[in-house]
Amino acid sequence: MILPIYVYGSPVLKKETEEIDSTYPELQTFIADMFETMANSDGIGLAAPQVGKSIRVFVLDASPFADDNPELKDYKKVFINPKILELAGERICYNEGCLSFPKLHEDVYRESHVKIEYFDENFEKHEDWFDGIVARIIQHEYDHLEGKLFTERLSTIRRKLIASKLKRITKGDFSASYKTKL
Ligand code: NI
Repeated sequence: MILPIYVYGSPVLKKETEEIDSTYPELQTFIADMFETMANSDGIGLAAPQVGKSIRVFVLDASPFADDNPELKDYKKVFINPKILELAGERICYNEGCLSFPKLHEDVYRESHVKIEYFDENFEKHEDWFDGIVARIIQHEYDHLEGKLFTERLSTIRRKLIASKLKRITKGDFSASYKTKL
């Protein structure tokens, strides 16, 4: 089922998130819904707060990058109760978007490598290093679980420059090709 995506200004995006365990009701359905919602909106990552759930779950789909990185073919992953353990490498600038900010794209600096502990959809625990676009998506989605939005990583001056755009989103004055909610 495709879920509506909460946009900037929705309190749920700033709300504290909780860890879940394997008894979380309808978890597999929820994960399937997140993948369906992400695919429907051409997203490459989606965090639970963006669909109104204050739990520590996000999904990613790096397969759109498979043209340049064959190893990313069908690369889809679920992260439950993730904890970033280490950030390393160099800080890289990349033009990011976010489904909660329709049509907004801004350059964001993030570390090139991330070490993260997480549970997969079968509640198996993993601890892995990621780099490249996957490390980028992980850091963006992890921020969502911390109530931190990508615009908060911009310079003060850049934030001032896009302030009116952001305000329009909070007023519902935007268009998106997918279902949204405020
Ligand atoms: Ni986002």
